[in-house]
Amino acid sequence: MKGLILSGGKGTRLYPLTYTSAKQLIPIANRPVLVRVIEAIRDAGITDIGIVVGDTAPEIERAVKQGSQWGVNVSYIHQDAPLGLAHAVKISQDFLGNDRFVMFLGDNVIQGGISPLIGEFADSVYNAQVVLTKVDQPQQYGVAELDSDNRIVKLVEKPKEPPSNLALVGIYMFDHHIFEAVNAISPSWRGELEITDAIQWLVDHHYQVHPYIHQGWWIDTGRPGDMLEANSLALEELTPIIEGYVDRESEVDSRVTIERGAEIINSVVRGPAIIGQDTRLVNAYVGPFTSIYHHCVIENAEISRSIVLEHSEIRNVSHRIEDSLIGRHVVVHRSPIRPRAHKFTLGDHSHLGLLGESGT
Ligand code: G1P
Repeated sequence: MKGLILSGGKGTRLYPLTYTSAKQLIPIANRPVLVRVIEAIRDAGITDIGIVVGDTAPEIERAVKQGSQWGVNVSYIHQDAPLGLAHAVKISQDFLGNDRFVMFLGDNVIQGGISPLIGEFADSVYNAQVVLTKVDQPQQYGVAELDSDNRIVKLVEKPKEPPSNLALVGIYMFDHHIFEAVNAISPSWRGELEITDAIQWLVDHHYQVHPYIHQGWWIDTGRPGDMLEANSLALEELTPIIEGYVDRESEVDSRVTIERGAEIINSVVRGPAIIGQDTRLVNAYVGPFTSIYHHCVIENAEISRSIVLEHSEIRNVSHRIEDSLIGRHVVVHRSPIRPRAHKFTLGDHSHLGLLGESGT
């Protein structure tokens, strides 16, 4: 089998973090989402992986290269415009050939990896397998309707009136018949060739499409809130390890990972949390569900349920920072310069939540 990862898209809902970088490279518990996807595919025994890239191709190629770091062999497939998931399959036909393959959206995080799903599909007679899971707001996804024998009757993309609460997870398995389907369908109202329509085409033409119901958690990390949620869930699954330096005045509880070269000085870290390589905490409190990536400094400051990306500094901030997603090379500090006022340099589409005077 082969793997196909879709890693195009602009990530507009994660602006400004994704103005200059690909959303798939944002780390969850200090591991970029795309790396998690590559490892999930590799752990299922697949090493031949195609990555479909768009505008952010240079950054993705710089980060992943040929994939040897993860023991896989990566080929890049360029998509000139975001014309849909089925379009991505279409342009990948040369790479995929006649092999069965798993297609994985590069911004999806799933609990437990995909070995069980691949196991069920690899040697089966199914022409396709879709992964379904129960969600609260099916309107935001592709949705499946099953009959009483658990067979797929209908698939609809973002229905106003969902036929069920079973959403299509961004992981699909196909054999070569999918090429007939993607060549037969037309673009949807949003101008994209929808993979949901291609799978419906398979169902309508009596190909066997098997529904696999996923029981664990799954997150499509499209928005900042999803990122923080995925980060919390992934941190809970981390096996803690202390590889950095913790001084005697610091308190680091279990369920905390301290990566190589990190220094924890007179600080408190509550798990689950991860402190990245060569990051320094000085007189700091890092609360639960927080990931601080590499080469950061948190000094005289408190932060919880947040993600801080590489090379950022937070110093001398009196109120705790919470529920925040902080980009790369960001500096947050108390300014000694008069007048006493908030001073910002914020990118387009930044979000800043200030406390009121009363502190409420
Ligand atoms: C895509 C699919 C949708 C699926 C979702 C999962 O949606 O079209 O069927 O439920 O991924 O992440 P999109 O992210 O393109 O809106």
